[in-house]
Amino acid sequence: MNLYIKNNAEADLEVLFVAKNSKISQKEKKFFDIQGFSFKAGESIFIQDSFRFYIGLDDFSIDSIREAGAFLIKNLKKYNIKSIKIKGFGNREKNYALMLGILLGDYEFNTYKTKNSKESLKDIYIIESSNFVDEIKKAKILASSINFVREIVNTPPNDCTPVKLADIAKNISKDYSISCDVGDIKFLKKEKMNAILAVASASPNEPRFIQLSYKPKKSKAKIVLVGKGLTYDTGGLSLKPADYMTTMKADKSGGCAVLGIMKAIAELKPNVEVCGIIGAVENAISGNAYKPDDILHTREGVSVEVKNTDAEGRLVLADCLSYAQDLKPDYIIDLATLTGACVVALGEFSSGIMGYNDKLKRDFENIALKSGELMAILPFNKHLEKLLESKNADISNISSSRYGGAITAGLFLGKFIRDEYKNSWLHLDIAGPAFIEKEWDVNPYGASGVGVRSVVDFILSINNGA
Ligand code: BES
Ligand code: ZN
Ligand code: ZN
Repeated sequence: MNLYIKNNAEADLEVLFVAKNSKISQKEKKFFDIQGFSFKAGESIFIQDSFRFYIGLDDFSIDSIREAGAFLIKNLKKYNIKSIKIKGFGNREKNYALMLGILLGDYEFNTYKTKNSKESLKDIYIIESSNFVDEIKKAKILASSINFVREIVNTPPNDCTPVKLADIAKNISKDYSISCDVGDIKFLKKEKMNAILAVASASPNEPRFIQLSYKPKKSKAKIVLVGKGLTYDTGGLSLKPADYMTTMKADKSGGCAVLGIMKAIAELKPNVEVCGIIGAVENAISGNAYKPDDILHTREGVSVEVKNTDAEGRLVLADCLSYAQDLKPDYIIDLATLTGACVVALGEFSSGIMGYNDKLKRDFENIALKSGELMAILPFNKHLEKLLESKNADISNISSSRYGGAITAGLFLGKFIRDEYKNSWLHLDIAGPAFIEKEWDVNPYGASGVGVRSVVDFILSINNGA
């Protein structure tokens, strides 16, 4: 599918967005009334004689326009048309939202279907008198990165192993001017990443420590991104019940988001140094599995008593975060499908933002919301922190209470952040929106690619001196 901005174009169909307060002719109004069209999001009408396709909008806000773009493209799939034209909104942010919505709403995971349906729609023209070059460029870069993330996350665990994730990272570095280093078991041992090694110990699919690095000539700041890349999470010996295990191929969403962000950054080329680290591991079961009651000596020197092998993501991240700080960054952001508790706390549509720096958390939340990703701050407190105490080691890998699990997981990670980096670190728990069971907003069924928009916009805000 090709997306263009043009002064004028001939197309099979014209698409118009209409809200309650839109100016329309009496004839059209009457027609809408008869059809029961009530100008709401999620409604559409095809008028055959004028070849017009009307889409309802709750309002002309950026969020509504983005969502309507996705709705439009999904709905047009049932028609056998080759081209459409849409009157633009005459506004940068609104046109960007429309284009992003269209490009994200178009994605479907069909790779493993042997009978692929052919798409007829080839060309989309947005009609505008100015050309909006920057907006179309950014929308295409972001959407292709997000759809790239979706494709990897959707890839089943029998094909997408840690080694495969490392190969994908190497391919990104071949296509763009970013470097890639992949550490194997020998590297993990040398680095004393015993927590990663413990989680990986039961699986025949070896772990990989993946590092991607983008270095501009002039750099305003250095950001290190850390992604949880569990290519599958069975829960380990603290085995997940069958119903909870399905969709755990999406436990690599944080790591894949890091891959997508690096790809977008390599194309957008901001004056900000960005390093992406992914702990790629499979949490399986076997005689070699790590066990509840094991005590692990992490890279950071903190000993951890394993009380539940299903709380594996925080163990992998602990060693990754330790390494990340050695790179002396100005900001560290980790992305992880870390806890079911975060989904209980915020609902499946929002990610949790945690950390010690209130301003950083608020700034990030504002950028995320503006980018169209729902996020909310979950506050740390000392009482929850106490629940991580262990009788046998420095810390336990789970809380002694069943409440506040998203925050106690965040506080566990905080134990691995040195004092000098406490104010530079953000933890994003993306467990809710990473995998979409029932489509919503710009997200089709399956992986959403959450995190890419917020983090890229955060990096661009640093580039623009915010
Ligand atoms: N990968 C899961 C978290 C998760 C749950 C992601 C649902 C997406 C959807 C994580 O490794 C996990 O299993 N966490 C446990 C922690 C518990 C043992 C303290 C959880 O959330 O139940
Ligand atoms: Zn788990
Ligand atoms: Zn997990």
